[in-house]
Amino acid sequence: MAILPVRIYGDPVLKKRAAEVTVFGESLRRLIADLRDTMGAYHGVGLAATQVGVLERVAVVDVPLDEEGTKRASHALVNPVIEHRASSQTAEEGCLSIPGIFEDVTRAEQIRVRYQDEQGHGVTLDADGYLSRAIQHEVDHLDGVLFVERLSALKRQFLRRALDALARGELPEGYAPPLTHGQGGAS
Ligand code: NI
Repeated sequence: MAILPVRIYGDPVLKKRAAEVTVFGESLRRLIADLRDTMGAYHGVGLAATQVGVLERVAVVDVPLDEEGTKRASHALVNPVIEHRASSQTAEEGCLSIPGIFEDVTRAEQIRVRYQDEQGHGVTLDADGYLSRAIQHEVDHLDGVLFVERLSALKRQFLRRALDALARGELPEGYAPPLTHGQGGAS
C-alpha cells in the first residue's frame, strides 16, 4: 500500500496534459492501487494520476450512491474519453488539490464515457448525477484543467487571494494530509 502526497494548486504538474496509457502491466496496476489508497486516505471521491505527479491518463472514482455512503460506484478509468454529454447540473465541488475551496460548478448531468480497464479491455459507462460530475472533474485533471477554471471570471476574481495563498504553499488552517509513505513500504 502506498499513500502518495497530493499535489496542491500552484504545482505546475496540475496544468499539464497527461499522456495516453499504452502499456497495461504491473506498473499500471500498482499506480491504480496507489491512487485508490491515496483517495481513501484523503477521503476523496475521485483522484487523477496527475494529482500525484504522474502524467498518465488514469483516474479513480469512488462515489456514494446513497445518503449513508454504503452503496458506492467505484471505477478505475484508463484513457477515459467522454463521448456524449446531455442536460446540465449545478452542485458544489471541491478538489483534493485545492483544499478549503468549494464552489458551485455547472457540468453535464448525463455522460457516456469510454475507457479501458486495468487489463486494457474497453468499457462504456453511462453515468449521471454525482458519478457523472466526478468523472468529468477527473477527466478535466487529465487535461490539466482545475474546477476553479470552470467558474465565472467574477467568481475566480473573488477566489484570487485564496488561490494565490495556496500557490505560495499556505495551506488552510486545520489542513492535515494523511501520513504518506512510498513504494518501499516505509511508514
Ligand atoms: Ni480534483
